[in-house]
Amino acid sequence: MAPPLTGLNCIEMKILILSAEKQQEIHRITDEAKRRGHKITFRILKKGLKINPDKFDVLLLRAIIGNVKLAERIAEKFYLREKPVVDEKLAKKIDRNKMENYIVFMHKHLYIPKTEYFTKSNLIKIKKFDSEWIVLKPLSGKRGIGIERIHKNELESRLKKFGETTYLAQEFAEIKKEYRVYVIDGKAIGGMEKVSKNWIHNIYQGAKPKKAILSTKIKEVAIDAAKSVETEIAGCDIGTTKKGLFVIEVNRSPGFAGYESLGKKFAVEIVKYVERKLKK
Ligand SMILES: Nc1ncnc2c1ncn2[C@@H]1O[C@H](COP(=O)(O)OP(=O)(O)OP(=O)(O)O)[C@@H](O)[C@H]1O
Ligand SMILES: [Mg+2]
Repeated sequence: MAPPLTGLNCIEMKILILSAEKQQEIHRITDEAKRRGHKITFRILKKGLKINPDKFDVLLLRAIIGNVKLAERIAEKFYLREKPVVDEKLAKKIDRNKMENYIVFMHKHLYIPKTEYFTKSNLIKIKKFDSEWIVLKPLSGKRGIGIERIHKNELESRLKKFGETTYLAQEFAEIKKEYRVYVIDGKAIGGMEKVSKNWIHNIYQGAKPKKAILSTKIKEVAIDAAKSVETEIAGCDIGTTKKGLFVIEVNRSPGFAGYESLGKKFAVEIVKYVERKLKK
């Protein structure tokens, strides 16, 4: 760990980090926060966890999948005591699932390939999608797990296997390049290209981070997307396609190990954002 910084013009914070899983990223945030003179407590988010908000100044939520309700309850307690929560939308209970995010993006005129809940009643619409191949995504998926591409001919048999409404069906988009753009507090602070040997571009699935210069257009789309779903610290995945810039996803607790492996700094940006939020 690097030596502590001295002479920083900031208040000492007691930060609580909650996450349903351990992550390399949490170690990085912890190191940077300690360097800046803050105290960090990390707890695994799981059933039975009891938190006294009075012991902390700020709550930073990382992975919450599987424990959303608990995360929201704890976030609300901090919020009611006027203590900063990142993401604040969890405290306000306005977090959305994948489909609801897509609907918001479409309302903001961001490009999303045709998408429907994968249900029997939507089969006719899904069959009319432009692409021959269809991407099936779990509603609360992450890191590319459970996502697959099937031919339209397989839709019926797959529906029988899956049951209703836990998956989305989406037109397959020919993505030429896929970028990860990091947006904090409405500013695109950096990004990279994700290079993959197959059509799935998650770093977790083996895609490689590559340095990239982001165009103004890509940055604007990422900023609009993050803003539209009120995500404070956002990892926006943007694909370039013939039909436009596809907003694949806005992650509210983005992985950044791949980005930092390119010699970039991200963990410190999270800590600085939390400092700014506490000062407000
Ligand atoms: N409609 C599509 N057409 C082509 N490729 C797609 C499409 N949707 C997703 N992909 C590819 O699959 C990857 C994973 O998709 P997506 O981000 O929707 O799911 P996830 O990563 O599992 O979820 P999350 O981002 O919430 O963690 C994308 O990064 C992209 O490379
Ligand atoms: Mg994704």
